[in-house]
Parts: sequence; C-alpha cells; structure tokens
Amino acid sequence: MLFTKNDFGDNFKWGVSTAAYQIEGAHNEDGKGSSIWDDFVQQKKKIFNGHQGNIACNFYHHYADDIALMYKMNIPNYRFSISWSRIFPHGTGVINYKGIDFYNRVIDFCLELGIEPWVTLYHWDLPSDLQKKGGWTNRDILQWFSDFVACCVKHFGDRVKHWMVMNEPMVFTGAGYFLGVHAPGKKGLSNFLASAHHAALCQAEGGRIIRSLHSDCKIGTTFSYSHIEPYRDQDRRDIIAAAKVDTMLNRMFIEPLLGMGYPSSSVPILNRIERYMLPNDDKKLVFDMDFIGLQNYTRELVTHAPLMPFMRAKIIKASKRNVPFTQMDWEVHPPSIYNALKRYNSYPGIKSIVVTENGAAFEDRLTDGMIDDKHRVQYLQNHIAQVLLARKEGVRVNGYFVWTLLDNFEWAEGYHPKFGLVHVDFNTQKRVIKNSGKWYSQFLKNTVSISKETESVSNTKGIEQFEGRS
Ligand code: FCB
Repeated sequence: MLFTKNDFGDNFKWGVSTAAYQIEGAHNEDGKGSSIWDDFVQQKKKIFNGHQGNIACNFYHHYADDIALMYKMNIPNYRFSISWSRIFPHGTGVINYKGIDFYNRVIDFCLELGIEPWVTLYHWDLPSDLQKKGGWTNRDILQWFSDFVACCVKHFGDRVKHWMVMNEPMVFTGAGYFLGVHAPGKKGLSNFLASAHHAALCQAEGGRIIRSLHSDCKIGTTFSYSHIEPYRDQDRRDIIAAAKVDTMLNRMFIEPLLGMGYPSSSVPILNRIERYMLPNDDKKLVFDMDFIGLQNYTRELVTHAPLMPFMRAKIIKASKRNVPFTQMDWEVHPPSIYNALKRYNSYPGIKSIVVTENGAAFEDRLTDGMIDDKHRVQYLQNHIAQVLLARKEGVRVNGYFVWTLLDNFEWAEGYHPKFGLVHVDFNTQKRVIKNSGKWYSQFLKNTVSISKETESVSNTKGIEQFEGRS
C-alpha cells in the first residue's frame, strides 16, 4: 500500500522547525544581549566537548541562503523562534531595533518566496539579566514575558499568522530548573515548581495577548510528548511508576491549559505547586488555543526505582533494551507518534494538533559530496505513515514539521547529534542537502509515495536526480 502527500489533503501544513539559539550564532552582534544559553555554554562540563552556540549555523548572516534552500526543497512552512535578548537585550525595557529588523528580514524573505512563517516566542533562551532576578522562578516574569510577546506581535503580527507561545515548557523547566542539565542549570523541587507554574501562566497569558492584538492569527503552543509504557507490563509497581512519569512528561502543562488543573492525583508532590499560586491563578492558567503543537521523537519504558527521589521511577534507556535507537539514545518506535496523537485527540479541548517537531539524529557520512542517510529517510517515512493512520482514524492532526532543517547545536549534546535534512560543515558553513532532505522535497512536490510500513527504504527514487526548484 502506498500513499502520497495528497492523502493528507490540501490544507495539511508541511514544514521544518528550528530554534534561535540552535542556529543563529551572532551571539553578541548588533546589540543582542546575552541569554542563559550564552552563559550556560561557558560553564565547564555542561556541554558535550565544551561546544557552544556563539556561531552555530550562522543563520543570522546566512538566513537568505537558508530560506532560499527551503524554497528549493519545496518546504512551504517554516517554524523558527525569536531570540528574546535580540529584541530586549536586558530582557525588558529598551527595544533593540536591529533585532526587530533581523526578524523582519527573515519574515519578509519567507513571504517573498511563498513560505509561511510560524513563530515560536520562547524556545529556551531567556535573557541573562532576567535570570539574575530569578528567571522563571520569579513571578515578575509574567510582566517581562507579556511585554516581550506584545512587542513581537505588534512588530510582526501583520505578517505572521501562526504563533506558538512556548516550546516544550516541561523540558526547559525540568532540565533547566530541576535537573540542572540545561540552562540556567538550577536544581531542586522548589525551583522547578515555581518556574513550572510561572511558565504555565505565561503560556496562557501569551495566548491572550496575541489574540487581543491580532484576532486573525492562529495561536498555539508546543509540548513534548513521549509515549510512556511500563517496562514490565504486568508489574503493578512498574505500571504505577509509568503513570507518574507520564503525568510529569505528558500532562503537567497541557491539562492546566485546558482547564483541568495540575494532574497532582497521580504525583501528589505536585500539590506543592499551590505555594506559588495566587487567587484566580487556576483561571489564568486556561486559554483556548487554536492549535496544539505536539513534539514527539520516541517512547520511554519506565520501571519502579525505590531510590529515585519523588518519583520512585526510572526510564530505561533504549541502548539497554536491544531496540533500534538514535544518537540521542532514543528508541526508534514509530507507533509512539500515533499513540501521542490519539492521546491528545482524546482531550476534547484540543481543537487541532500540529506535529511541530519530529525527526531523528543519526551519524552521517559525507561521501562524494552526498549523504545517504537511509535511516533518517526511513524514520521520517514511518512516522509520517503513522500520522496518516491517525488522521484517517479521525484524529484532528493538521500539520507535520520535521526537526530540523540544518544540523545544529543540540543543547547539552553540542554539535554531536545530527538532526538536519541538510548537513552543515561548521568550519566552512557549507550546506549539503542530505538524501533525507531530497526525499522530503520530492515528497512535498508529490513525486514520491511511501509504502505504509517501510521496513527498508525502497522509495528514495528520484533522489539521485534531485535538482529542486530554482
Ligand atoms: C526538542 C527541542 C528541540 C530539539 C529537539 C531534538 O525537545 O524542542 O529544540 O532539541 O528536541
């Protein structure tokens, strides 16, 4: 059985996603202030091999070529984020108009080439000066964030019609304020709960601000979602452990947004978040988004772990389970995206779902100027097939964005994991479209079909002759 892009219908949104800190570089140019990621990468032993994102893909200077590359690859929608400290070098107060100009150029060039810009307002790069005041743990962030959102929407909202308030709040609060493995490197339950509550308030408030300024925009926000299963599916303790991890990873931020409150019945320690709540906060957490961005890469298997604080649960890494896995040690398991979509679809408050990230990091080899990344092609085909399956069953999924366009700075993992459809030589900044990028282009042009269960990659036909649009 074969399918093509046509099977998704004309209104389905196809695209690629990126994030400011991971690609832009120009970390201190044209008035940009520093962000918590600029600071975090300077700390010893935080990032793989001491890598940092000062230059990254140099998208700040290379944006026109990269957008032209997207055009050549037939990519109709581009999701990117705005660096807060490029707009407000100190996080709040004085606007840096060179930062506004940069995003105006990016947006205008996208539109000129017929590419729809989808903007994420916060993809983890908080201005350093705000972190000095406690960052997400300080309730004043509601005001700082509101000003930032309003400024972006006022300057870009005449042309940007798709907004996402945040990228994966569970990841930046969990990794950044609980585990300390992402910027700003803070740890502990109180840091986490305070930052989580303020992020949850901001995600709703951001939506309200966009709607009040531009009611014609489509407003969303994005969440990470990993399908969770007990390691031993008959073991009661593993089942309980899995439910707890599922609560934290998958329910913690979507449920308050939908008016269901924090899911503390399965993780009672979450009740402590009430310490940070003021009267009426339960109402302020709610906002009726036009769409929800779902970001899925894998599933996780969870076992009971009596020594793990708070959760008594532990994720068993894919590399310990005799399953295929990526450079991130994430299992390759396409049904995970289907399960994720089904789960989100079961929330009646979600009107529309867009897969705003899905993709895979595999080691690439550049041979004779080509990268034959069969595993990535296969990963994408199999995941897109699962999205179609869900859609055919009535799931309200209306878009799919590959993570990501370019090999880039993958946070704590530095430049090691390669997620791009396009290879980047970080010494020369030369780009080479990988076979996965050529395949996606052909798929978007509707010249290739995918077999529903691609055990092996048989559908890369046309890649050799790929020339793209000129
Ligand atoms: C997601 C992030 C994105 C990228 C991918 C691999 O969690 O949103 O920036 O790092 O993972």
